[in-house]
Amino acid sequence: MKINIIYLLLLPMFFSCKNTKEAVSENAVNYRPAYHYSPEKNWVNDPNGLVYLDGEYHLFYQYNPFGDKWGHMSWGHAVSTDLQNWEELPVALPEIINDDGTKEGIFSGSAVVDSLNTSGFFEPGFKHGLVAIFTANITKGEEQLSQNQSIAYSSDKGRTWKYYDQNPVLDIGLKDFRDPNVMWWPSEQKWIMTVVKPLEYIAQFYESKDLKNWTLMSEFGKMGDTTKIWECPALVKVPVEKSEEGKWVLIISSGYKTEGFVGMQYFVGDFDGHSFTPQKATGVLSLDHGKDFYAAIPFNGLPNEHKKPLIIGWINNWTYAGDIPLQGSRGTFSMARQLSLTEVEGSYVLVQTPVVSDAILQENLNLTAADFSNNKVLEMPTNSYGLNLAIDLKNLDSFKISLLKNENEECLLSYHKESEQLTFDRTKSGKVDFQADFPSIEQMTVTPNNGKLTLSIFVDNSVIEIYGDGGKKVMTELVFPTKSSGKILFSK
Ligand code: FRU
Repeated sequence: MKINIIYLLLLPMFFSCKNTKEAVSENAVNYRPAYHYSPEKNWVNDPNGLVYLDGEYHLFYQYNPFGDKWGHMSWGHAVSTDLQNWEELPVALPEIINDDGTKEGIFSGSAVVDSLNTSGFFEPGFKHGLVAIFTANITKGEEQLSQNQSIAYSSDKGRTWKYYDQNPVLDIGLKDFRDPNVMWWPSEQKWIMTVVKPLEYIAQFYESKDLKNWTLMSEFGKMGDTTKIWECPALVKVPVEKSEEGKWVLIISSGYKTEGFVGMQYFVGDFDGHSFTPQKATGVLSLDHGKDFYAAIPFNGLPNEHKKPLIIGWINNWTYAGDIPLQGSRGTFSMARQLSLTEVEGSYVLVQTPVVSDAILQENLNLTAADFSNNKVLEMPTNSYGLNLAIDLKNLDSFKISLLKNENEECLLSYHKESEQLTFDRTKSGKVDFQADFPSIEQMTVTPNNGKLTLSIFVDNSVIEIYGDGGKKVMTELVFPTKSSGKILFSK
């Protein structure tokens, strides 16, 4: 088998995973991904406070330090120098227990490098202070009382934190008001927060000079997908491919195209430091066409050599997140994805490119109709690899690719040239019956280029990320195979 060194190197990286100590499935198969981060144990959901500081990428995340189900929400913490190998650190922001019996869960939010010490939290001239802006979810007993925006700060690269003693910094008296995402707006030397009123499908934009006092500037919402509440908003400037231009993209975690599930949508438009104006109506733009990509946010503080913003998402879906067949450790994150925009039929759409090191087993294959007629087979030594496929569609009206194939078990990708539909069927992918809504078939349109279809497929024990047409279409899905290795079978 040929192992090819491939493209997409952001930094010189050598792959070794600090993340593989124990298998996490209920049976002998290891479901812990090898090149996707998941903490050693316990529950995780959304990525939080993605920020780069002094050579380290910080990944904070919703974390229950006490078990593998959602609860006691705190910020877990991992750092990486290459976005591939993550080192888990102690809990950064623990749940707060107040004297009056109320508790403050540390819900989702963001982190910024306050290099000008606008907050006044740091020694004069200190340029490396981190400020986390998060939602405090106030409860008493079983009752949820309110949500406000609060802050904490760190002078030691996120290793230890202090909660601001005058919290909250923004409270509008709502029970649902959350997930602040803050960025710096250099021309007015101010911070901008995007935050949602989830039940109203509204994102609000606030400004502040010091991260402590916030003023409402404008609102945007009640557009696009409103089948589910809006969560985890983020506004990010994204370069347009083959131009010097950039556009603003508002990403929102909300509904999925199959009603009842959560997913992510985005709006492309302009932002002038005060309000967001979307491009002309495009219908709902999905960030990911699989069921398992949610709550993604961008990194703050990226150095200039990153020409494109980077996001990381949570690989799961609230419909079955608590039921997936893992014990002790429940939850993982996507690879970091670079974002750019390209124009398709007069509108801008996102292009996502994963950050992939050359140490992941990669197959680069040019396939023709004959490979599918002859039922080409690849025996894969593990369930963790990447495939870069260029498929010549001449004499090929449709084809199938079975991943993780063992007898009747498979994750089945199929493509129809005429309809341009790529279908992913996980109904026979192994363990599927732990929750009635898990077995499912998803679809996305992938357009060939000069008669060739390009697909990059990343399989990682329980995660599959599929990038079609150079990243214009992406699908992320969880699977739970019952064998620790399987074939790849190409057929018609
Ligand atoms: C999104 C979310 C956020 C919230 C967090 C709580 O998955 O519901 O809105 O802050 O999870 O864990």
